[in-house]
Amino acid sequence: MLLRKSGSFKSIIRSSEITPQQTVKDFQQDRRRFLTQTAALGAGLVAAAHVPSIFDPAQVEAAQAASSRYTVNETQTPILKAATYNNFYEFGTDKSEPARNAHTLKTRPWTVQVDGLVKKPLTLDVDTIIKYRPMENRVYRHRCVEAWSMVIPWDGYSLSEFINLCEPLPSAKYVQFITLLDKKQMPDLPGGYDWPYSEGLRLDEAMNPLALLTFGFYGTFLPNQNGAPIRVVLPWKYGFKSAKSIVKFQFTDKQPRTLWNEIAPREYGFYSNVNPTVDHPRWSQAKERRIDTGAFPHSIPTLPFNGYADQVAGLYAGMDLKKNF
Ligand code: MTE
Repeated sequence: MLLRKSGSFKSIIRSSEITPQQTVKDFQQDRRRFLTQTAALGAGLVAAAHVPSIFDPAQVEAAQAASSRYTVNETQTPILKAATYNNFYEFGTDKSEPARNAHTLKTRPWTVQVDGLVKKPLTLDVDTIIKYRPMENRVYRHRCVEAWSMVIPWDGYSLSEFINLCEPLPSAKYVQFITLLDKKQMPDLPGGYDWPYSEGLRLDEAMNPLALLTFGFYGTFLPNQNGAPIRVVLPWKYGFKSAKSIVKFQFTDKQPRTLWNEIAPREYGFYSNVNPTVDHPRWSQAKERRIDTGAFPHSIPTLPFNGYADQVAGLYAGMDLKKNF
């Protein structure tokens, strides 16, 4: 992403100074592994080198067994890489900073507002949303606009199920995701950005079953740096559309503002569907560096819609995808 380094970022802190992640008390009763692994991941991030041994491979395998028809059969990115190489600018613009800094994010209590063109505005506790529908484990390709990619097993349910609960009015054409802004919890919030982070989708895109309302990954809770306690994952779009730590769903009849599109509209379009034929003005999008189990990322061709064309291309029938990038 556009990088605006200010000198104010926290200097590198020692891992021993990081407090363990907050324990998620009430995920889903039938997902006991979530509870048993919570402490393990918290400890794992303090002493990151210990994560693989702390994680019970059988538990992780069980999580994978519950996968859905949307799962891709590609080598998964190890959890340690997915939880330590992040974009979450509220906690620093360097990829390694969110894992070190996001322990200041307080994920309980956490309320989510539903507002705008809906039958009735709602304020919901995140645990109510978590329990609303059974979760699926879906292994998705995760393609960042910066041309790196991962393969991550996410836990959640289709965003469409939550949108149905929100009861948008027929006049609602878009949904905007507004994420947490709290300077107390984000003491090194970078300047030069119009916070809070926000993203949005056309409502028909949001209703596509691939769009995942996400609460966990690898069969365990989402670490703060990956967007706890609630985020969206939109695997056919560049990663920046997948807003983290959401506090509000706003239904509108006009295309909502989105942070990156506002900062650099020529670089970050509203749609931002993964498209190997539309380059970013500063780099090619034809290939990506896949981060998986190898010592180094390896280069692979990028697929239209990140390989999900069968499920989503119809949403854009008749649109010029070079103009509407
Ligand atoms: N959400 C918020 N609130 N703040 C952010 O900076 N970064 C986005 C997206 N969601 C971002 C965000 C970008 S650029 C990417 S690539 C993905 O989160 C990264 O998700 P990951 O760290 O889980 O891989």
